[in-house]
Amino acid sequence: MNISNTKLDIDFVRSQFPAFNDPLCKEWSFFENAGGSYVPQHVIKKLNEFMTSTKVQPYAEYPMSKIAGDNMDKATEFFAEMINAKNKEIIIGGSTSINLYVLSNALKYSLKPGDEVIVTNQDHEANISPWRRLSEVGAVIKEWKINSDNGELQIEDLDNLLTNKTKIVAVTHCSNIVGSVNNLKKISELAHNKNAIVIGDGVSYAPHGFPDVKELGVDFYTFSLYKTYGPHLALLYGKEEILKKLPNQNHYFLEGSYPYTINPGGPNHEELVSLIGIYEYMMEFYDHHFDNNNYTTREKINNVNNLFASHEAEIANPLLEFIHKKNNLRLIGKNQITNKNRAPTISFISKEKSSKKISQILVENKIATRNDNFYAWRCLDALGINTEDGVIRISLTHYNSMKEVEKLINILDKKI
Ligand SMILES: Cc1ncc(COP(=O)(O)O)c(C=O)c1O
Repeated sequence: MNISNTKLDIDFVRSQFPAFNDPLCKEWSFFENAGGSYVPQHVIKKLNEFMTSTKVQPYAEYPMSKIAGDNMDKATEFFAEMINAKNKEIIIGGSTSINLYVLSNALKYSLKPGDEVIVTNQDHEANISPWRRLSEVGAVIKEWKINSDNGELQIEDLDNLLTNKTKIVAVTHCSNIVGSVNNLKKISELAHNKNAIVIGDGVSYAPHGFPDVKELGVDFYTFSLYKTYGPHLALLYGKEEILKKLPNQNHYFLEGSYPYTINPGGPNHEELVSLIGIYEYMMEFYDHHFDNNNYTTREKINNVNNLFASHEAEIANPLLEFIHKKNNLRLIGKNQITNKNRAPTISFISKEKSSKKISQILVENKIATRNDNFYAWRCLDALGINTEDGVIRISLTHYNSMKEVEKLINILDKKI
């Protein structure tokens, strides 16, 4: 099959997600992927199987326990393959917020007073606060500010902030408000020229395509698995050569056992095993759309990503254009997706109605979305938007259809 001509089969995709046939959900258009996504049947099946037959303490010699442990390892291996990392570079924790908090605690020992840490005001607070707190050990915090007209982070501004004292750059791969995809590869190159490390927040990026962390060149990269069609867990990738040197945050006798050194408490077992279901879904998606079986997992993921991206651009661009042109609305971020420059995470406010009012109207019409600041307080502040009322966020993903988007445009046109 010619890859460039392949179109995403939306009926196939939606048939994989039991929610879209569930009596409670099936009438609704679910536009809240950046908040959390529904899960494919593979994930539910794996969770169910674990809870039914292997819900015991893993890694003992009896079969149920052995299978539980093997499946936990398998889940980690599959995710390592999908994002081009090594197994020992993958940490599965409870959330991105906790993973970054633990990481910042570990990294603080490598800083001395006067060292510099760069954070942005585009990020979700989860990738700001843990790094700002490093001022407690004498770090100087510098803010890479967005352009307040368009919400974008400009790379020249980072270049001006970087010095020989910069040790950490914490930046989002994709803003959960503005939707822009930041050039993490370039950011990593610039930071590495100064021997600084980069912590990339991929929470709003990964649902639209699992990253190749080696290609990005980042030192740490995090995303929340409950937004990538899984349970409420989060993945943290760390470069092995850095991870192995980080001070242990776990029990003293686990000294040296990275990556567990950065994962106190460890992952939730049943949820970890259910991640195998995400891998199975991605592979089934690939097999449904493509013929070539000789590809590596990562190559297959690349093709899946491209198909997600072309479908998402096809359904998001009419909505972006509509909001951009509608006089009483203010669109945040770019008004078109071209070349994966933007995620289909679309925020706007009205010049006439509160965001809360608009969200109520949308919900009355069975559009599942909300108004909020989405914990990107600093970003909203810089854009001059009330952080209480926030923005309306329409967050599309590959399982949304053109029909759903047309319905939304129609409601926005008639009622907003
Ligand atoms: C861009 C971004 N980063 C970080 C987070 C925090 O993730 P978690 O809820 O897993 O702590 C979120 C959550 O919405 C987010 O959207």
